[in-house]
Amino acid sequence: MSFKKNVDLLVGAQWGDEGKGKVVDMLGSEVDVFVRFQGGANAGHTVISEGQKVVFHLLPSGMLYPGKLCVLGNGLVIDPEQFLAETSELFNKGQDKARLAVSPHAHVVMPYHKMLDKLQEEARGKGRKIGTTGRGIGPCYVDKYSRSGLRVEDLLNPDVLRERLTYILEEKNLILTKLYNQKPLPFDEIYEPAKRWGEAIAPYVDDTRALLRKAVDEGQHILLEGAQAALLDIDHGTYPYVTSSSTSAAGAFTGTGLAPSDLTRVIAVVKAYTTRVGEGPFPTEDFEEAGETLRKNGGEYGATTGRPRRCGWLDMVALKYSMELNGASVIALTKLDVLTGMGGIKVCTAYDLDGERITSWPNDTRTLDELKPVYEVLPGWNEDITNCKTFEELPANAQAYVKYIEQSLNVPVFLIGVGADRTQTIVRG
Ligand code: GDP
Ligand code: IMO
Ligand code: MG
Repeated sequence: MSFKKNVDLLVGAQWGDEGKGKVVDMLGSEVDVFVRFQGGANAGHTVISEGQKVVFHLLPSGMLYPGKLCVLGNGLVIDPEQFLAETSELFNKGQDKARLAVSPHAHVVMPYHKMLDKLQEEARGKGRKIGTTGRGIGPCYVDKYSRSGLRVEDLLNPDVLRERLTYILEEKNLILTKLYNQKPLPFDEIYEPAKRWGEAIAPYVDDTRALLRKAVDEGQHILLEGAQAALLDIDHGTYPYVTSSSTSAAGAFTGTGLAPSDLTRVIAVVKAYTTRVGEGPFPTEDFEEAGETLRKNGGEYGATTGRPRRCGWLDMVALKYSMELNGASVIALTKLDVLTGMGGIKVCTAYDLDGERITSWPNDTRTLDELKPVYEVLPGWNEDITNCKTFEELPANAQAYVKYIEQSLNVPVFLIGVGADRTQTIVRG
């Protein structure tokens, strides 16, 4: 048997919001199957095409392409209300042709998960808060691993749902009343909507592992779309200031049932500077005017929560770590246009820890808090680059910045974002 595997895995390389949605959409015309494999509605992936802006939280960013298969894999945590709101909004806009398949093994974010997410954050108090999106992600993954979660398949059978929800809710109500001083949740107020969610989701439920296996074996082009990013990874990120899933490349396999040998290439999405939303270490954060300018020019406000994103410079030490973790084959560099007019562009090449020079990512929250970044300043440019179509059209200093990144990381930059629209992208040959 001979066929060519054609599976791309796209992951965020920093702390999220690198522009993954735009890159997925931009590559989309050549893709047959779009897949989300971890996380949930904590993601906010923005796509702008022909003046139309859509923010995907749960659905793959390829949903705007008619007729393509879109998959929500088993590794996701699915909030049914969000799922139904997002699908109906898209379908009302006429995007009814995309085929959507949901794994029966994905876990369901229940109302009590969202309540617990908020209550736990309040209880953590100042200095310990994670700054979660409040979408119930952590508590839902906790239930998955403690084997007291509800899976999509459980919503489809009212008897199973009743039986499982009865004992799950008993435990949740103990936590809500005894630990958090809340009123207990009446069974029917959870069970009745959950039953309706099951009915509404049922038409989409399919054996997504088998669908993907078949698609891979037929040589179809599959794009696995990571949410969040490597430095928010539950194992390899800045723990505890992380999300609750495997956001780096490895998560794609547990989250779909595909195998590592299926992969053709890993696309790491790198923003031309760095942002972070929520709490946790961020060595190159800029608290001065430059940080403010990046926020303003980059429109750096959360696509899910609207929170202002913390902004700072590119961190080559963190990126080197991220490239290793993800086994990046190529880089999609986004938002290069935002650096226009910034004057000198700072790039962090090492850290200083009490006089000691550190050149590899320590991945220890306490150490990261103590570090001082060591910067190199690269020359900037003032020319508007938002209409550049080729690499050669970019000002020399912008070209030099791109080359600096690929040489430092030893990974080629194959795509450059010069604006938010699908068309504002330079593809290098
Ligand atoms: P994601 O979570 O990685 O998909 O990223 P978000 O959608 O949360 O945030 C990225 C933001 O930058 C969105 O508002 C995009 O429309 C925008 N964006 C993406 N690529 C570019 C680019 O190359 N230039 C500019 N100016 N904006 C971009
Ligand atoms: P996309 O896919 C940026 C952050 C939250 C918080 C931490 C944990 O759009 O890049 P959670 O609600 O997941 O338990 O929050 O992770 N976070 C993100 N930051 N982009 C995201 O997604 C994020 N999803 C979660 O701000 O710090
Ligand atoms: Mg986002």
